[in-house]
Amino acid sequence: MSTTAQGAEQELSTDVVVVGAGLAGLWAALSAAQAGVNVMLLTAGSMQAGSSYWAQGGIAAALDDEDSPELHAADTLAAGRLACRRSAVEVLCQEIPESVGQLERLGVRFDRHPDGRLALAREGGHRGRRVAHAGGSATGQELVEALSSHVAGHPRIHVLEHTMVQSLWVHDGRCVGVAARLKRDDCLRVKARATIVATGGAAALWQRTTNPRGATGTGWLLAYAAGAALADLEFVQFHPTALVGQDGSDGFLLTEALRGEGALLLGRGGERFVDELAPRDEVALAIAGELRDHPHAAVVLDLRDVPLQGFPNIAAALAHEGLDPRHDPVPVAPAAHYAMGGIVTDLHARTSVPGLYAVGECACTGLHGANRLASNSLAECLVFGRRAGMAAVCEPAAPASSAAPIRAPWPTLTDATRERLWRHAGVQRDADGLGRLLNDPYPLARLIAASALARCETRGAHQRRDYPDTSPALDFRHFVVAQDSPLRIEAWD
Ligand code: SIN
Repeated sequence: MSTTAQGAEQELSTDVVVVGAGLAGLWAALSAAQAGVNVMLLTAGSMQAGSSYWAQGGIAAALDDEDSPELHAADTLAAGRLACRRSAVEVLCQEIPESVGQLERLGVRFDRHPDGRLALAREGGHRGRRVAHAGGSATGQELVEALSSHVAGHPRIHVLEHTMVQSLWVHDGRCVGVAARLKRDDCLRVKARATIVATGGAAALWQRTTNPRGATGTGWLLAYAAGAALADLEFVQFHPTALVGQDGSDGFLLTEALRGEGALLLGRGGERFVDELAPRDEVALAIAGELRDHPHAAVVLDLRDVPLQGFPNIAAALAHEGLDPRHDPVPVAPAAHYAMGGIVTDLHARTSVPGLYAVGECACTGLHGANRLASNSLAECLVFGRRAGMAAVCEPAAPASSAAPIRAPWPTLTDATRERLWRHAGVQRDADGLGRLLNDPYPLARLIAASALARCETRGAHQRRDYPDTSPALDFRHFVVAQDSPLRIEAWD
């Protein structure tokens, strides 16, 4: 241990360091540890605080006798609007049924019918019932609690909570670990043969969001500063049915599974205006259209005919808001929900920087294209989390001596930036508004704006007012940004 101006500085070493304790980080950590190496898992908060914990959607997997990975892949590709990387779609749809089996063997109890069959839910864009839940709409909580206890009890995994990673440790172009700050301002470096970033999403960069406040793209900032490429930053999904309510409950997610059980969307005049089970982009755009002249208003989610026993946290949140869904109209409107883009990876979660991996929402395998299919995100955390853990153990050892990590100052995200992103990079956008974001003080706002400006077309989750059509020339093309190089367009196998 050495001492710096800020406090004590400690250096630890391990085989694999995982940053983030959501589903992707937990599963990657367990996979690497089960393969026989030592793992250190760092999380900025406590083990049960991130987006995965709050996830209401389940795990999309072809588990029904009449379903197949091929049909799941076809629905994923259709939702992604000719922008998915087909190889990532195939990997996900083929491997996810086995991941569900692995979770069951670890003690996760998926919801079942009285006769023992899995109780699969229907969500938008799926041709049939394909979504497995555990604890109904509290699936994220069930999964994170179950896996956290396996991680905490694993003899080869060491967990450090309240540990904020400040930068990735890069030596000779290779990632050799992380630099972090602990409580009381003590500094820590962790040296590792592989570093897996699993820091979650970025939708809380937008003012109106379904995400917890911390989902602001920290992994993107870390990876970009380390030289890794980011892609598809312009593809942000807006969930159609987020509660319009008071501060604190505004943006609360009302899961698509409610619509799978018969919830209806009613316009300002009380009439239906969209197929409630169309893919998410279609429903969000239809609502945005309905609210065009009333941007602060809401449409109604009619839950009168939906049995809410399978949605315990929704029943509780609505009661807290003073709403009785058996009688009261529930006001909803779109909110930023999921970043399809992120740190570019291959099919084993490797980024463009040797030794650095990314998995979960912070990563961009190309799986989701321009519009993620509902409940493919927890599935992604499992399939690619496992692949990351397995690949990471094969990395060569980190060099014994390496220059100290650079601790760059962390940029400050303000409410003004969040408001600007909502106003100028929302469901509907144009060059004029996006251009204003190019000078925003927050670096990610500038990168998102540059990518969204370059994509001169309407596709998936967003509608360009100035380019209302989809450009066939941009089918299966990804916009990639990296430090010190101009934005480039790539096609991925
Ligand atoms: C939902 O349940 O509607 C959200 C789940 C997801 O984002 O896939």
